[in-house]
Amino acid sequence: MTPQHPANPTAPAADSGRRSGWWRDAVIYQVYPRSFADADGDGMGDLEGVRSRLPYLRDLGVDAVWLSPFYASPQADAGYDVSDYRVVDPMFGDLADAERLIGDAHGLGLRVIVDIVPNHASDQHAWFRQALREGPGSPLRNRFHFRPGQGEGGELPPNDWESIFGGPAWTRTVNSDGTPGEWYLHLFAPEQPDLNWENAAVADEFRSVLRFWLDLGADGFRIDVAHGLVKAAGLPDIGRHDQLKLLGNDVLPFFDQDGVHEIYRDWRRILDEYGTDPDTRRIAVAEAWTPTVQRTANYLRPDELHQAFNFQYLGTAWDAEALREVVDLTLDAMRPVGAPATWVLSNHDVVRHLTRLGDGNDAEQDLRRARAATLLMLALPGSAYLYQGEELGLPEVLDLPDAVRQDPAFTRAKGTNAEGQEGMRDGCRVPLPWSGTEAPFGFGPVPGGPSWLPQPAEWAKLGVEAQTGDRSSTLELYRAALKARREHPALGTGDSVTWLDAPAGVLAFRRDSPDGAFACFANTGDQAVRLAAPGRLLLASEPVTVVEDELVLPADATVWWAV
Ligand code: NOJ
Repeated sequence: MTPQHPANPTAPAADSGRRSGWWRDAVIYQVYPRSFADADGDGMGDLEGVRSRLPYLRDLGVDAVWLSPFYASPQADAGYDVSDYRVVDPMFGDLADAERLIGDAHGLGLRVIVDIVPNHASDQHAWFRQALREGPGSPLRNRFHFRPGQGEGGELPPNDWESIFGGPAWTRTVNSDGTPGEWYLHLFAPEQPDLNWENAAVADEFRSVLRFWLDLGADGFRIDVAHGLVKAAGLPDIGRHDQLKLLGNDVLPFFDQDGVHEIYRDWRRILDEYGTDPDTRRIAVAEAWTPTVQRTANYLRPDELHQAFNFQYLGTAWDAEALREVVDLTLDAMRPVGAPATWVLSNHDVVRHLTRLGDGNDAEQDLRRARAATLLMLALPGSAYLYQGEELGLPEVLDLPDAVRQDPAFTRAKGTNAEGQEGMRDGCRVPLPWSGTEAPFGFGPVPGGPSWLPQPAEWAKLGVEAQTGDRSSTLELYRAALKARREHPALGTGDSVTWLDAPAGVLAFRRDSPDGAFACFANTGDQAVRLAAPGRLLLASEPVTVVEDELVLPADATVWWAV
């Protein structure tokens, strides 16, 4: 039975958060392969580029790398439309590159998590192409969701579901004789037909795909749209439009259905076949947009997955009260299932947190706030996800010309009034600056060479080379924070914090361990505040002054203490 914990224990808890397991406190760095590093100079990142930069990630101090999809794909949704789950797309390299990358990462002490996309395949996947060819009645059609249309001539979609990217979630097929045919379901782009998880062949195929990547050495999976695999029986109408918000309070017939848990119990058995040693265990993290953190915890029951992204945290404003509430809700939800909390501020689907949390009027202030938000996140108990480039203080690129945008949500959401995934995801996917003063700033091998999205000229100042060794840089702040996080016994794993009294707008908490205590103060307000220093200053997101045990904490700043 899971032990019970007081909401706010003051003594160090012999808690589930102190259980062993590498993922329980791991800092996991998301590599978006298209935009990380381009070894062959074609303007598109690749696996060899990632491999060549692994020492950078080791030195940054992260524990694991999550790679967004690099599988065979027509790239209708930047690789989240997979046409062959066991093949590396030639634009990224080949299987030998993937194997080398995993091997090198392990040699450097980094784990590798790969993306798996089970909710939908590409419309160029062999199954879908054959299902289309064979026509209505083909058993292959049952691996997807094909349905006759409504209306006299079947001219209306089978139900009223909308695509996350805008527009209807159904596309009509054309029969081999040229007449209009059945419709198929796609919760995302039409090039991403949803798989039917009621069909045994689908479940079998994914068992085999999991084993394929586990055999190649992957340490785990990030499960794309983990909450979407099971659809409510009969695919019932929703009865209204505007279904697109991923994170709402509504229960939708295509998201977070109870049936998905059986799939993850099955997957957990497969992961466990590869060993249960806490240091080498293979894990899975759910991308599950659920209405509440309590619903998220369902994916993390002891016989299901190991982690889930905390999108409620990602969606919280830079506001002490709101942050305290979401931290409490998260820890309270995770404790009963014994799973680590996770924290995340940025990823490839959302506006970079520097821009999202800032007010957009003052770039320096936006950066201060982003740095403060990061230090707060990294002080919380559990595991944290970083998105490539946040360690450089990269802002969202807001002024990409329409002509270069590739996000399918951009074209589909246009004119539909749909927020969808904002239709603007390219702005956080601009290739990273590494070195030099001329674009692509070391992203590719040749100055003046291509990059699939243009980088702002100011990014010359934000490159890895430019920031390295500059103690005031954001890169050095991340390095210092990750180092302190490894070294301080009260940081990392855990399942509780002790809130301390603090003025309005300030978040202050303490974490205890048998080997030393830690405290974190974060000022989300717009005025500096004076606070008693509780111990030795470990790290600060801004220069701070401590005079006679009194700290002046500026607005938008976070400090860490060894207590
Ligand atoms: C979530 C992924 O993070 C996003 O990039 C993608 O477009 C959708 N799932 C569909 O696969």
